[in-house]
Amino acid sequence: MADGDPKGLHAPSLIGPFGPGIDRVDGRLKVTGHATYAYEYGADEYHGPAPLVGFIVPATIARGRIVSIDAKAAEAAPGVRLVLTHANAPAQAPWGPLDAQDRFARAKPELGSDMIRHYGEPVAFVVADSFEQARAAAMAIRVEYAPDAIDVDLLPSLGNGQLLAKMDGGEKPQSSVGDATAAFAKAPVRIDVHYDTPYQNHAQMEPHASLAKWDGPKLTIWCSSQMVDSHQAGVAATLQMSKTNVRIVSRYIGGGFGGKLPYFSDQILAALAAKRLGHPVKVALTRQQMFHLTSHRTQTFQHLRIGAGHDGTLQSVSHDAWIQTARYDNFVENVAQPTRGLYASPNISTLHKVVKLDLPPSDSMRAPGDAVGSLSLECALDELADATGVDPVALRLRNDTMVDPTTHEPFTSRKLAQCLTAGAAKFGWDKRPAKPGTQRDGEWLIGYGMASAYRGNMLRNASAEVTLAPDGHLTVRLAMTDIGTGTYTILTQIAAESMGLPVGQVTVLMGDTNFPPTAGSGGSFGAETSGSAVFRACENLRGALAKAAIADVRSPLHGVDADGIVFENGRIASGSQGEPLGALAGRMSPDGVFAKGQVSKSEKPKGKAQASFGAHFAEVGVNAITGEVRMRRMVGVFAVGRVLNVKTLTSQLMGGMIWGLSSALTEENVVDTRIGKFANQDLANYHVPIQADVGSVEVSFLPETDDLVNPIGVKGGGELGICGSGAAIGNAVFNATGVRIRSFPITPDKLI
Ligand code: MOS
Repeated sequence: MADGDPKGLHAPSLIGPFGPGIDRVDGRLKVTGHATYAYEYGADEYHGPAPLVGFIVPATIARGRIVSIDAKAAEAAPGVRLVLTHANAPAQAPWGPLDAQDRFARAKPELGSDMIRHYGEPVAFVVADSFEQARAAAMAIRVEYAPDAIDVDLLPSLGNGQLLAKMDGGEKPQSSVGDATAAFAKAPVRIDVHYDTPYQNHAQMEPHASLAKWDGPKLTIWCSSQMVDSHQAGVAATLQMSKTNVRIVSRYIGGGFGGKLPYFSDQILAALAAKRLGHPVKVALTRQQMFHLTSHRTQTFQHLRIGAGHDGTLQSVSHDAWIQTARYDNFVENVAQPTRGLYASPNISTLHKVVKLDLPPSDSMRAPGDAVGSLSLECALDELADATGVDPVALRLRNDTMVDPTTHEPFTSRKLAQCLTAGAAKFGWDKRPAKPGTQRDGEWLIGYGMASAYRGNMLRNASAEVTLAPDGHLTVRLAMTDIGTGTYTILTQIAAESMGLPVGQVTVLMGDTNFPPTAGSGGSFGAETSGSAVFRACENLRGALAKAAIADVRSPLHGVDADGIVFENGRIASGSQGEPLGALAGRMSPDGVFAKGQVSKSEKPKGKAQASFGAHFAEVGVNAITGEVRMRRMVGVFAVGRVLNVKTLTSQLMGGMIWGLSSALTEENVVDTRIGKFANQDLANYHVPIQADVGSVEVSFLPETDDLVNPIGVKGGGELGICGSGAAIGNAVFNATGVRIRSFPITPDKLI
């Protein structure tokens, strides 16, 4: 942990790979029901009258206009205080701008006009004394529409694909190294295949919810948000007010997965109604509403062309992807991202085209780009392994590279080969049946599959402040969020270890725009970004404490050499001299000692590529009679720089691997193309694996030191688990059956 500290005032280096993985600091709060989620703020921090409750009335057409809304019965219903529609909604900023620097901070007016842009768009908001009254009144609202013709079907509309200026992440939608087309034409072995992946929904345990309260010109929204600072800016823009008058609070979050990067109608409608009524209002989306009133992962159609030598050495890779976005939006999922960085090839081309459809906006869902791109790339590589007779692990090792094949920049660290080798040994890959469809267990065909895991790594902006009280307690504040990943825990660990304090003497406060801004949780950048800011704040605090101790005649460290000062066991010490941190802090100021720290994305090392890597191995059984696929076991080995907490990161990766299983076998949002809605709108019809669907899942890490990526040497880990795991399942299905399914999910009907 010695980087960038000129005074040599290092904390004890406890944050090592495989360092102490403490239990979740918020675990007890969560399992005892004391952690407050968006819909349940009470006296702990919401001080006001019992909120009124809103219910959203969603549109039942996908495109067109509202001809009339009859809200009379609803307005007269018991307990109803307000019915907002486009006819009486307050003026708001127009949607956008489309080219916003931060798309999560765009203005998003609600009930702004009679125009309907997608199924489920709110057309009315009913507020009543109770949820039941609001819901009952909402059912009494009659809306007459003038529908327009719709286009909601991706595959027949591929010809309308547009090349937009940039993708999610800012990269260009097109890339080219060498001449992939010419090289493909000349390649001795050619794989030319199409894959498609379906629409998916985040299906977080906790639906979006908001409680809005006005105090004069000041608005507070308690909600479920991955990025409180972006939402503060977005709400302020929409309501045309100063950002300083908007406070967003999000203490505990029941799952984000990208679906809470944008803010949605719950925040704006609760705020509008609370203002109109002069009374706090809360609202939660129903599970059914979650499917249309929030975002989703786009369906993708992907064309892969891989040219190789007979030994499997890649000569060219082309990856073209088509994705849906809302007609009024410009989100482009960077599907071919893994193809740009994963394997060496002198010729690589990628292309992303957007098809604008009359569906809700697509946006990030866990590992946007890499998750779906790796499904097709890693299965197509398996096809190459099959065509060349090269073992799939050997094929990947043969095409490994320490230099990004598209940018030609060396990776700051990359242990793909080590993960592949270690994973193969751990899994027992040598027992894989080389010939598909040859291993049976009763009526089950058994197959092994594998895939690489790749996820780009990114540092964002964050700041944090720390205060050491005279009682020796350290409080950390930053506008970060914990979406269930364990952020409270790792930041507590970083602060405790940096200051040499026991974890019980550290409190991390987050999820509040009153705290120093951060980029929030997303893109697997949360731990490294906010962790670095906390680390830096502690570094500065240590510097201030050491300086004060040296200068203070009352300190036992008066006049000592700064280089010999250490922070451990709650004390500042030099040799045999020392004193409790709190005692020193108390003499410096009765309010304690305060320090700030920050990290910026501009610190990204120049001329270097960075990503996290791993390897997935899977065994499946395919029922020879029914076509049912059962995952028997999965092994994942990952190298992600410093592992802050083995326990919480293992949970992240395990969840990601299971999500890969889900995307390979069951998960699919089906569009009813007649009316432009997702047909499955609940967790009974939207199939995610339950415990009984999951066999054994083993996660392990390889030690990896990366001093370049950021001050704490941490690379993104949360999303890596879903990258490649679905492909490992798909490849195992092929190994079991000899049947290659290129349309996900691999449901039994496709296998028999
Ligand atoms: Mo993640 S899909 O960027 O929250």
